[in-house]
Order: sequence, then structure tokens, then C-alpha cells
Amino acid sequence: MVARGSIVWVSGPAVKADGMSTTKMYETVEVGESKLIGEVIRLTGDVGFVQVYESTSGLKPGEPVVGTGQPLSVLLGPGVIGKIYDGIQRPLVEMAQKTGDFIGRGIATTPVDMKKKYKFVPQAKKGDTVQPGSILGTVQETPLLTHSILVPPNHRGGTIRDMASEGDYDVNQVIANTERSGYKTELSMYHRWPVRKPRPYAERYDPSVPLITGQRIIDTYFPIAKGGTGAIPGGFGTGKTVTLHQIAKWADSKVVVYIGCGERGNEMTEVLVEFPHLIDPRSGRPLMERTVLVANTSNMPVAAREASIYTGVTIAEYYRDMGFDVVLVADSTSRWAEALREMSGRLEEMPAEEGYPSYLASRLAEFYERAGRVRALGSPERAGSVTIVGAVSPSGADFTEPVTTHTIRFIKTFWALDTRLAYSRHYPSINWMQSYSGYLEDVSKWWKQNVSADWYELRAQSYEILQREDTLKEIVRLLGPEALPDEEKLILELARMIKIGILQQNSFDNVDTYCSPEKQLKLVRLMIKFYKESQKALREGIPLADIRAMPIITTLLKAKFEIPDDQVSKLDDLDNRLSEEFRGISREEAKVVV
Ligand SMILES: Nc1ncnc2c1ncn2[C@@H]1O[C@H](COP(=O)(O)OP(=O)(O)O)[C@@H](O)[C@H]1O
Ligand SMILES: [Mg+2]
Repeated sequence: MVARGSIVWVSGPAVKADGMSTTKMYETVEVGESKLIGEVIRLTGDVGFVQVYESTSGLKPGEPVVGTGQPLSVLLGPGVIGKIYDGIQRPLVEMAQKTGDFIGRGIATTPVDMKKKYKFVPQAKKGDTVQPGSILGTVQETPLLTHSILVPPNHRGGTIRDMASEGDYDVNQVIANTERSGYKTELSMYHRWPVRKPRPYAERYDPSVPLITGQRIIDTYFPIAKGGTGAIPGGFGTGKTVTLHQIAKWADSKVVVYIGCGERGNEMTEVLVEFPHLIDPRSGRPLMERTVLVANTSNMPVAAREASIYTGVTIAEYYRDMGFDVVLVADSTSRWAEALREMSGRLEEMPAEEGYPSYLASRLAEFYERAGRVRALGSPERAGSVTIVGAVSPSGADFTEPVTTHTIRFIKTFWALDTRLAYSRHYPSINWMQSYSGYLEDVSKWWKQNVSADWYELRAQSYEILQREDTLKEIVRLLGPEALPDEEKLILELARMIKIGILQQNSFDNVDTYCSPEKQLKLVRLMIKFYKESQKALREGIPLADIRAMPIITTLLKAKFEIPDDQVSKLDDLDNRLSEEFRGISREEAKVVV
């Protein structure tokens, strides 16, 4: 029986209604005469607390609240890719066209065009047995994406009694009839899934495959695995958005889900304007042909912002289930947490740290736990992944505030942005001493097999130079660099070279914006070779000044810009030049001695 309550009070996006005893937690309800969409988020006896996803201005006590019997769900099928949605999957562009206004109230739109025809190519046939999650056929959703039509994961499966032949269908048309123990169902090209419920999978894999982003400090030093989790906290202007855009554009994932929770009023608008113009660097086609945007501008109701991360991750899981690698980026989760805090405040809940509700941590955990690399349900066998990266924007770049500290508990890769580095224009301003990756060991096997057997060692050796520089810095600060022996001055020089030649990477430079794994490794190898040759030279009595004056240094520092990915073999030429120059300085030294 559906609930029929009536409004008792309204406080911003929060509504309290009585007569709600037959409703369920997280059921969607229609609020008021204009049937605003809401969701029951707390129940105490007869009284239901509802968060409303549309503007509640004008809503009055006494108006009805009617249950729908359904949890908040998204529609999953062809047509989702390329869309810009709000937090509850309303298509923003289509809504704007319908109302002339950006977000009209009580406007009925469908998340995808239900009339658009797609050419369906069956992959299963009459008489086949299908399981939940099995692929029935495919449609070309966009030029960049072949979409698999899945038996819904909550379907019981069965024998196909009827299968559509190849041809054009809209998403509503029946494409298959199944039967199991006399129970018959009709399947179309879409299904619905409740956003707060993770989609099931057959098996979870270890996070052993890196997500290659082409960003050196990420891939080489603090890698994230496919199906892994990462956070990028940083103050205003430190590079969160630029880094997430780089990941969206360059990561070797098929599908991008970008959840934007606008910081300042116009920031999300920038994303909305900018994203549709981004070009997928590999195919040269619009990035939107493999992207879904979930957007919250600051003028949208906070409740929709709260829902947006669940809507986004459910869409991501759906494409994972087709066997794709999906990367989900959320910018920024702090704005999402603020929405949670505001709703909680409206409901007069007991606040925990800094006014956030006590369930902030469990909500963050639930979100990040939906990342993973899995074997999908059904047949044929396929693996897919959802990688989640969340930006965190603590005010005053204070990493001890609740959203950052709780996030850290649930993620395995931490890219700490550093205001000081950003200020000195060292980009990406990811602090290499504070950042870490829990996937380093997991992905090293991949690097060994696919790039080079000495990856782990070279990475460790170069990182050790950075660590040693960090400890030496303190002495230098107190006593000046001259207090150090040459061997340690060399460390400072090498750290400088690694910072400029490897860690710094300009997103806006045509060559430097992406760096292939091979090139990353070769650059590191050159630095380590330079270090070892220099150590040897010092031992042979060659003055440090001679080493510092070597022309190869400038060449090494510029290699990232000057040698594009398709010419990495030129880095091997540098290797030879490096050896030659060292032979050169030791010959000169020999002459002087004689
Ligand atoms: N990798 C990078 N390469 C070049 N410039 C960068 C890079 N990262 C950040 N920047 C610069 O820093 C500015 C602020 O970055 P942004 O991502 O907007 O910060 P945030 O989202 O943390 O507020 C950018 O407009 C850009 O000029
Ligand atoms: Mg930003």
C-alpha cells in the first residue's frame, strides 16, 4: 500500500510529513500538489523526513506526500553516454529546452530519449539460457562506445523464448522474451537500478593492473590501480580540477563519469561549457562520446547534490558490467559532504565533528567501496572496473578536517596537493613526501611484465633521492649547502633534476600533457644512470662543478618536452650521449692530473 501522508513542516529542502507509516526508508515520494520528487531519509513511527530534489519554495503544510513504492533509481540503457544529468539523472539540456529555465519544477523528462532507434545486434539466440547480467546483444551507442544490452542483474535469467532479429529498436521495445519455470518476462534495452544499492558482480579481482594516466608523478610514484580508489585533497587553486581533467582525458579507461559539485557559483558552469568541447586525445572525437557528466551547480537543491555521487557510481557500475574500465572522478567531495551536513542540520540531527553528521564516515565508505575490478555477472565472461578518484577541498588546506581524515581511511592512493608547490608553480603540485599509494606492490608486476623488469628498483632508487633531499633540506636551511660533502650536494642536484625533469609536468603542453609508461621509465632510468655515473666520477676525483656543468643536464631536463612518445628511442640516444660526456670529463681530468 502506498503511503499518503501530509506535510507538517518545510525547511529548505527538508520536509516532514505525517501519515507515513507504510512508507519505506529511501522510497521516493511525490511531494505537494506539484509532485516534487523527494526521498524518505528518516522514519520515526508515523513521521517521515523527506529530502526534496527540487525547489520547495511555496510548498505548504497540509499538502500531500505520496509514496511511489520505488527507491531512488536510475535508468540504464543506450543514450546515457554523452548526457549531462543532475544528481537524480534528469537531463539538464533537455530540461532546459523544455522549460526555458535551467531547472524547472515538477518537469517530467526521461533520462534518455525513449524514441531514439538504435541498431540492435543480437548476441544470444532463441533457446539459449541466459543468467542475470548476460549480454543479449549490442548497439552502437556512440562512435566510441559499443553498448551491451544486459539481462538486468536482479532478473532471474532463463531460456530465451523469443529474440529480436537484427534491426532498429527504441529502448522501450521488447527485444527478448525469457521463461524460467513457467515464469515469463519481456526484456527491453534498459532497466532501472536503485542508486544506493551496489550492482552485484561475480567475483572481485586483486587491484593488480595500473590505471595508466600518463601523469608521471601518478603512474611512476603514486600509482592507482584499475578498480582502485584515490583522493586528491588540496586548497583552492592547487590543481585538483586540472588533475581530474587529465585523468578523465588520458586514463586508459573506456568510460568517464564526471561528478561535478560546483565549488563557486560559476565553476560548474565552466565544466558544463568546457567538457562538451574536450576532445578525446586518442580518437580525436568528442570526449563526451564516452563520458557521462553529473552536474550540481550551487543553485540546485542540496538534496540532488547528496544523491549525485550515488547516481554517478551506479552509472559507472553499469558500464563496468559490460566489461569496460570506467573511471569516476568527483570534484569535489567536500561540496557533497556539505550537502550532507546541510540536510542533517535541517533534520535537526545531533551533529558530530564540525557539524557533519555522525554518518559522514559510513557514507564516504559506502561510496569508495563501490570501486573495484570485477568479473561481471552472466556470460560471456568479462572483466570490468570502476576506479574512483575524489577531490577534497578542505578549507585552508587543513588536512585534519573531517572530510579529509575520513576519506583517507577508505582510499588507497593519496595525492596530497601542496599550496607551497602550487605557489612556486611546480605542477602538478602533488607533494611527493606526503603522498602515497597502497597499490605500488600490486601493480609492480604489471610494470615488470609490460614495461621493464627493473621498474620497481628504478622507481625506488629515484624516490630515495627525493627522500634524502628532504632530510638534507633541513641542514641546508640551517647551515647552507656548503656545509654538505660533495656526495650530498650531488643528491641535491639529482633531486632538482628529478623534480624538474620528471615530477613537474605541464598539462597544457602538447607533448608533456601525456607521458607513456615507456617514456616515464626511460626518463627515470636516465636520471639514475646520471646519478651513478656522477657518483663514480666523484670517487675518481672529478670536481662536482664539472659534473654540474655538463651539457647533458639541460638536455635531460628538457627531454620530457622535446621527445614525444612516438620517438622514445631518442631517449636511448641520450643514454649514449650521457656515457660519452662522462667519458669526456674523466679524460679531461686525467689530462689535468698528468
Ligand atoms: N599540471 C598542471 N600543469 C599546468 N598548470 C597547472 C597544472 N595543475 C594546475 N595548474 C594551474 O593551476 C591552476 C589552478 O588549478 P585548478 O585545478 O583549477 O585548482 P583547484 O581545482 O584545486 O582549485 C590552473 O588554472 C593552472 O593554471
Ligand atoms: Mg577546482
